[in-house]
Amino acid sequence: MPDDQPSRAALSMAASRPLRPLSGTVRIPGDKSVSHRALMLGALAVGRTEIDGLLEGEDVLATAAALRALGAAVERVGERRWRVDGVGIGGLAEPADLIDLGNSGTAARLLLGILATHDLTAFVTGDASLRERPMRRVIDPLSRFGARFVTREGGRLPLAVTGARDPVPQTYRLPVPSAQVKSAVLLAGLNTPGETSVIEPEVTRDHTERMLGHFGATVRVEPHPDGGRLITVVGQPELAAAPISVPGDPSSAAFPLVAALLVPGSEVMLTGVGVNPSRTGLLDSLAEMGADIARVNERIDGGEPVADLRVRAGRLKGADIPAARAPTMIDEYPVLAMVAACAEGRTVMRGLAELRVKESDRLSGIAQGLAACGATVAVEGDDLIVTGSGSPPAGGATIATRLDHRIAMAFLVLGLATAAPVAIDDARTIATSFPDFVPLMASLGAHFAEAR
Ligand code: S3P
Repeated sequence: MPDDQPSRAALSMAASRPLRPLSGTVRIPGDKSVSHRALMLGALAVGRTEIDGLLEGEDVLATAAALRALGAAVERVGERRWRVDGVGIGGLAEPADLIDLGNSGTAARLLLGILATHDLTAFVTGDASLRERPMRRVIDPLSRFGARFVTREGGRLPLAVTGARDPVPQTYRLPVPSAQVKSAVLLAGLNTPGETSVIEPEVTRDHTERMLGHFGATVRVEPHPDGGRLITVVGQPELAAAPISVPGDPSSAAFPLVAALLVPGSEVMLTGVGVNPSRTGLLDSLAEMGADIARVNERIDGGEPVADLRVRAGRLKGADIPAARAPTMIDEYPVLAMVAACAEGRTVMRGLAELRVKESDRLSGIAQGLAACGATVAVEGDDLIVTGSGSPPAGGATIATRLDHRIAMAFLVLGLATAAPVAIDDARTIATSFPDFVPLMASLGAHFAEAR
């Protein structure tokens, strides 16, 4: 590692073109979505849940701390290995203090689902990004169970939730394609007598359903007559502790993967990547753009499909990415936009309204950052349009990351391809989802320097 290579993310950091192609094999860190759910369901199960491969990022650590504050025993027993002694469904205790979920929307929304049907009051907050994010999307359905909320203006955190003592089961149709909202409702249904159902018009990530089944709950997933799916959980089961093996996060794999596509001559192998079909929209889109990505060693690990990905650099062309694909790659648009800026021709990414309410307004963050790097980019309604020349844009800009880890990593990846370095104003946020991003990328030959 060069001397000026920061070992961990520094405040301000810059990426520049490596002298040699990227190469090597790296294990992708644990899936953030699966890690949150493993801790939460472990806390609600009876018995001891052993988790292997947990993502030890700040978001997941916030969930672990919250569950401890609610009375579950959550303990790190080795590298990426965690143990949860659950309290059983309905067994969480009122927390003595404010619960701070940092940057994590998933922690907040899923936990509110659990708290909504516990007979207790909790006060929940988060960082400046999370406090701006919409919570009405969970407050509305959770109120129907009988939970009560007092929130800041606009349904924002901090908020107080008093869970329903006698919750009423619900059938709820998702107004936005959100796995977080779906999961909040299903988790509320766990401690509710009778059956709770969610209708999702568009398929979103299904880790909650899969893991509930893994812990012994009865979950039915059926096609809905209007399209999409009807997901039903039978309330008040006894969840039985079960070992969990967390797959590598495809949303984290996306960064070294795209770096290998964009740095000429590169070939890398990413091992243990989750390829659950509700998460593989990026792989489908990149295939349409001409990317050379092979799935090898496909297997099922801990109930989730997993593969190793062999990625080779090459010429890429623009593509039309349909809105229907958005839920399967929602977190990957920042890095896909970097590919689009380097590809030849027009890439249209359609139906991205949900990108405006992520850790930052990603639609404007991507567009402003790419424009500052010299790319041709436009936002038309909810569509993002990037027109590339077949060569990377000039670079040479400093990007405002606005507490958004994926904006930070996406632009550092772009900086590996541009002639002039690309800097980000704050790299600390990367630790929310990918604390080892810098050393992992360095092991493949990428070079990030502290920018002053
Ligand atoms: C997640 C769902 C997605 C995603 C987030 C994680 C989850 O959010 O953006 O990073 O674990 O359920 P939405 O459900 O709001 O789309």
